[in-house]
Amino acid sequence: MKLDLAPRPAQPPERLDIAEMALEDVPDVMRIESLCFPSTWPQNAFYNEIEENKLAHYFVGRLDGRIVAYGGIWVILEDSHITTIAVHPEFRGRKYGEQMFLALLDEAIEHGASWITLEVRESNTVAQNLYRKYGFTVVSSRHGYYSDNRENALVMWAGNVKGQLYLNRLRALRATVPH
Ligand SMILES: CC(C)(COP(=O)(O)OP(=O)(O)OC[C@H]1O[C@@H](n2cnc3c(N)ncnc32)[C@H](O)[C@@H]1OP(=O)(O)O)[C@@H](O)C(=O)NCCC(=O)NCCS
Repeated sequence: MKLDLAPRPAQPPERLDIAEMALEDVPDVMRIESLCFPSTWPQNAFYNEIEENKLAHYFVGRLDGRIVAYGGIWVILEDSHITTIAVHPEFRGRKYGEQMFLALLDEAIEHGASWITLEVRESNTVAQNLYRKYGFTVVSSRHGYYSDNRENALVMWAGNVKGQLYLNRLRALRATVPH
């Protein structure tokens, strides 16, 4: 029997259908959350964010109607804070995280944010690469921040995101992902 050793063509990235997270999306989001993080947010945290927190903006990303990614951001006047972002493990490496990240940045900028911060595990180089690509730099660290393994958090920051320089960078990067 002849083996077909031809490499499988990489699946081309598709455009994520990104929409505001609704209460009925939370069970699907929780399933992805449990696959992505060693300790998960309680389901109520998502409900509270959607229903009670006027500063919070949460999104889901769908492919053919299935939720495969989600993310959230708080915007407090000029300050904004990315609270979470995740892609289902089976859908990683196909620009869906980047599309979700862009949606969060757009939301922050639209709501007047001038700078954006986030925390990331010191060991999470994949996420750090994504953030660095978008101009985020490490400004400090929080010792033992994560309760499950006492891992340090890096605090990353991007400033002057309403400035022309940053908007040009966003435009150039956006052109490289399906939009
Ligand atoms: C971080 C995460 C959202 C990235 O999503 P993704 O869809 O896999 O990433 P993308 O395909 O959009 O890649 C975007 C960028 O991320 C970085 N990246 C993605 N996969 C990577 C890998 N395997 N190795 C190194 N860098 C990687 C690169 O900078 C990449 O840009 P490039 O393709 O130009 O190199 C995803 O890995 C995830 O859900 N991780 C678990 C949850 C998590 O850690 N969330 C962050 C909490 S702070």
